[in-house]
Amino acid sequence: MAVMIDHPCVQHKLAIIRDVDTGHKRFRELATEITKFICYEALKNIKTREVSVQTPVAEAICHKIDTDLVVVPILRAGVGMLEGILELVPTARVGFVGLYRDEETKLPVTYYERFPTQIKGGTCIIIDPMLATGGSTVAAIEKLKEHGAANIVVVCIVTCPEGVALVEDQHPDVPIYAAAIDDLLNDNKYIVPGLGDAGDRLFGTSH
Ligand code: PRP
Ligand code: URA
Repeated sequence: MAVMIDHPCVQHKLAIIRDVDTGHKRFRELATEITKFICYEALKNIKTREVSVQTPVAEAICHKIDTDLVVVPILRAGVGMLEGILELVPTARVGFVGLYRDEETKLPVTYYERFPTQIKGGTCIIIDPMLATGGSTVAAIEKLKEHGAANIVVVCIVTCPEGVALVEDQHPDVPIYAAAIDDLLNDNKYIVPGLGDAGDRLFGTSH
């Protein structure tokens, strides 16, 4: 299942982050802002428990989050979304998976992993701005499942039909939330129109 967040506030920010003239400082700020909005929607079905709170006036029946949340950025571009989700759920734990896409084969290569034990039984949110072929996201999902994760959500900024289809085919239990589902991948497996190389644009590097 892929959910596109088409709220005007998100789409307005998406227009700016896509712009080739947006520099890395503003790009980072927008990645944080957009992530917060997408995650707000992505987390709407997480488990809560009823609690009683005494207000200055009376008892109120309220609801608190009742699941361990583990955010897993895919290094390196996923780090650009971390601040946004932690603003929303500051008590979340953070795991990391290091993956890069081989420039020739376009296949993901894993170089790092470190997860909190709470991925077992908790809710894991994989963050990566770009879900292109879907290879990196599928590899991250597989790593988490190998370590016992059973409840996984993917949050990205831009994806495309090919990437969504791969994740849906390999992991139909994992929903994807995105600000945009773009048209296609180009010959270099970049999303079109996309926003370019997210890692480079976030961190001010270039190939
Ligand atoms: C980018 C992006 C994803 C991956 C998407 O990372 O951040 O992780 O490519 O492509 P896929 O869906 O085809 O696998 P990249 O490999 O450029 O590494 P970086 O984050 O270190 O820049
Ligand atoms: N990685 C990116 O950073 N951008 C794309 O469009 C595809 C992969």
